[in-house]
Parts: sequence; C-alpha cells; structure tokens
Amino acid sequence: MTELQSVIHAQNIRYDRKAEALYIIDQTLLPGEEKEIHLQTAEEMYDAIRTLKVRGAPAIGICAGYCMYVLAKSIRGEDQQVFFKKLSDYGEYLDSSRPTAVNLNWAIRRMLRTALEHVGCTRGQMLDALYEEAVAIHEDDIAKCKAISEYGLTLVKDGDGILTHCNAGPLATSRYGTALGPILLGTERGMKFKVYSDETRPLLQGARLTSYELQRSGVDVTLICDNMASIVMKNGWVQACFVGCDRIAVNGDTANKIGTSGVAILAKHYGIPLYVLGPTSTIDMDCPDGEHIPIELRDPEEIKNLWYEKPMALPEVKCYNPAFDVTDHTLISGIVTEQGVCRPPYTKSLAALFKGN
Ligand code: MRU
Repeated sequence: MTELQSVIHAQNIRYDRKAEALYIIDQTLLPGEEKEIHLQTAEEMYDAIRTLKVRGAPAIGICAGYCMYVLAKSIRGEDQQVFFKKLSDYGEYLDSSRPTAVNLNWAIRRMLRTALEHVGCTRGQMLDALYEEAVAIHEDDIAKCKAISEYGLTLVKDGDGILTHCNAGPLATSRYGTALGPILLGTERGMKFKVYSDETRPLLQGARLTSYELQRSGVDVTLICDNMASIVMKNGWVQACFVGCDRIAVNGDTANKIGTSGVAILAKHYGIPLYVLGPTSTIDMDCPDGEHIPIELRDPEEIKNLWYEKPMALPEVKCYNPAFDVTDHTLISGIVTEQGVCRPPYTKSLAALFKGN
C-alpha cells in the first residue's frame, strides 16, 4: 500500500468481530503517536467522544453506532422492555457527550429504531440486527465520502490552491473524508493541489491531523496559523475553500469548527467560493436556522494551558471557548453531499434531498 492509500484506508474506528472488541485510533495522540484504544464501557465511550479521542461529525456517528451495539451486548436478561429502556438510557448518556454534531444523535436514533423494529425477536437476532445496522452506518459513510469527493472534485481544477479549516479527512469520517476527500481523490488521479491548512486553535486539528494526513499522502500542504488565512487569500493563492460541517440547518446555515465563519467572511471579501462538504446525515431537517444549533462551550484550559509548558494567561482571566460557530448561508457557495452540489436557495435545494424519504 502506498502512503496515500494507507491514509485513505486508515481504520480510525474498527470493530473486531472475532475479539468482539471496538477499537479507535486515539486522535489526541496524533501526530506523535498512532495508537489504538479499546472502548468497553459506556464511561470510556463517553470520555472518548467528549475528549475528542474520536472526533469529526461522521466519525462520532460511526463510533456511536458500534458503541450502542457493544452496550446492547452488555445488557443481561431477556425482558425486552428492560433491554430497550437500558439501551435508550445508554443512548441518552452518549448523546450528552457533545451537543453540536447532529450525526451523534442521528446514529443513536438509528440504532434505537433498529432495536424497536426487532422487539419480539430473540436476543441473538436483536444483537445481529444491531451489529448489521452499525456496520451499515459505517459502510454508508464510506460510500458517501467517495461520492462527496467526486462531486467536490468537479469544483476545482488541477493546480488550484485550496484552504481548509479544522479536519474533515479520513480520521474524521471513513476513507477519503469530506472536505479533504476531493483533494485525496484528485491526488490519487495525479492532480496537484496546493493546500493551506489552518492550524485551528485551540485544539489544533488542522496542525495535528489535516497537515499530517495531507503530508503523509504526498499533497503539497502548507500549515498556517488561523490569522494568516487573509494574507494567503489576498496573495491570490487560494481558489476555493473546502470545509466540513457538524450540523446544517434547513436554510443552509452551517455549524462547523470555530473559525469557519471567519474564513467564510474573508473568502467572500476576496471573491473566493467557500464550499461546505458533508453527508446528508449532517443536515438537520428539524433545525430551521443557525440560531437553533446548540454550540458546545469547552474548558478555558484549552486556550490558556493545553499546549504550553507554562500558562499563557493569568488563571483568573476570563475565557470564552466555543467549539463551533455558524456560517451564514449567504456566505456559502455550495453544499456538497453524496447526492450532488446544492446551490442557493438552500431551503429549496436541501429539502429536495429528502423528498420521498
Ligand atoms: O471538535 P471536532 O474536532 O470534532 O470538530 C470537527 C469539525 O468541525 C469538522 O470540520 C466536522 O466535524 C466535519 S468532519 C468531516
């Protein structure tokens, strides 16, 4: 396998059926160490999602599917009402680990629906159905990422400069990724892009994960601090911005990693298109607009202390640390899903994706 293929096929989440064990790559250790950890208890699963050992909206959803299966297996006794109650409690607990990415809730609901559909079946049949559903969520994402990559690739040409924020590559999804998907797919086909990766303060997903994935894949990647996006755009080095998403509202407003809306405002100023790439599972048809998207607030320690040998601010200094922001739909040139490229008005083009469902 080439380096490029090994990045694309990285198994960030894997269920080993023989060992009956769920493993994830601990993303907090990258790029220094590539280490798998075994998730066994609900507390370990909650912690893995909460602390971003597994992260990226689609990856959180995939992981949650397998978590629900593992937890279902741990429920003893034959009473199906008790089984379903315990499984829903586990789902509620996992769902409370992070509020913004809708894929977590989506995957948990999908697993609970499968359990409900198998009421009256034997325990073995119920568990088999839940396992199949978790695998289906995973395999669907692989197919969706590939399709998103294909559609995204139609939006750029060989030699283009592309700016990305946070990490929406294979580690955050499955296989190609979403925002990084067209770049990796194009690279596989011999195209050459110049990618600018925002480091993405405060948790540095762009530095630790995006530049790692792209560098290892042989892509020409340049790491920049978040406050350098404007100069690279002004220099004429960026022809498109590709970003991922954690929740897309009905009107196209999109929550993604904190700083994305700033990138979008800059891109508009310099006349550069900004595309949001993500699976339809990230579209929340119950959410009318960005005002209704819950934004996760995280520990100020991430800003003041996390990456430093010594504290970088007085302990008593107030901090505001939202993990996501909402990019207004008017700043988005297109939303790329596995079904194609949606253009404004999004209320119409996004709704069309769900017709017949
Ligand atoms: O806090 P994170 O690292 O989970 O945030 C991730 C992002 O904002 C990604 O851009 C988004 O989830 C899309 S991943 C394909």
